[in-house]
Amino acid sequence: MRKIKTLNNISKKGLDLFSDKYEVSDSVESPEAILVRSAQVDTDSFEGLLAVARAGAGVNNITIDKASAKGVCVFNTPGANANAVAELVMTVLGMAVRHVSEAEAWVKSLDPNDPALEKTIEKGKKMFSGTELAGKTLGVVGLGKIGVLVSNYARWKNMKVVAYDPYPSAANMHKLSNVVTVVKTIDEVISQADYLTVHVPFIKGVTENMLNEKNLAAFKGSLILNFARGGIVNMETVYKMLDEGKLAGYLTDFADARSLKHEKISIFPHLGASTEEAEENCAVMAVEELKDYLEFGVVRNS
Ligand code: MLT
Repeated sequence: MRKIKTLNNISKKGLDLFSDKYEVSDSVESPEAILVRSAQVDTDSFEGLLAVARAGAGVNNITIDKASAKGVCVFNTPGANANAVAELVMTVLGMAVRHVSEAEAWVKSLDPNDPALEKTIEKGKKMFSGTELAGKTLGVVGLGKIGVLVSNYARWKNMKVVAYDPYPSAANMHKLSNVVTVVKTIDEVISQADYLTVHVPFIKGVTENMLNEKNLAAFKGSLILNFARGGIVNMETVYKMLDEGKLAGYLTDFADARSLKHEKISIFPHLGASTEEAEENCAVMAVEELKDYLEFGVVRNS
């Protein structure tokens, strides 16, 4: 029996791919492999571990250095949840420019017994008047699978897209040639964008604070979105820009205690990949990777 320990709820569609030669559960002792979503994994805590498969793109929850030192293979599922993240980014951006959440909360807060209710509601039309995405420029930092999808969705909304990737992939550049103006520096994206969205992985010392006080000084737009990872956008700079009125809003999937109650920061509970489809796609890909490795020694996305 091959022993697989699950550390989070993993979609049944993925788990069903294991044959009866596998024992798969959260209570497995001395596992050969771990299947995880967001839980922290210290690979040194498991004796005899061969592999960890993350049903997701980022691997910041796994001790990669320790794993490499001991020859434990770490797999991820790049692209499997890209559409879910890209759709959320465009949804949140569209809602922000039309003040949808604030308008709804305001209507719901009204007194249903107010004899002038209709007139009061009418006032909301002016109070929450917004702007349109069409014709605006979306700055995209990072043209991996999510950045490419976001760029396409933005074009379908008749936005202009200007994008930068520190490590451009030829395949993605071809896909995007009619869609995006690709520039050579992050500064060009920042200075041209009305809204800026970041889609690079968090790599300590590399993409850490990639958007910072120095380069964001050139930002003339209104909103910054970070649905990639906390730490890529320097939060001190964001707070300063919000306080000084240089930024209208910061939309993010990563909460910290200080941002929680900030009225110009919209925070979501790391919701990017939380769709039924993405959870299934990630689980299926992660299980296939694990099985290929354990049964045939094939390494994919490691
Ligand atoms: C990922 O790393 O795949 C995304 O951040 C989504 C997630 O972890 O839930």
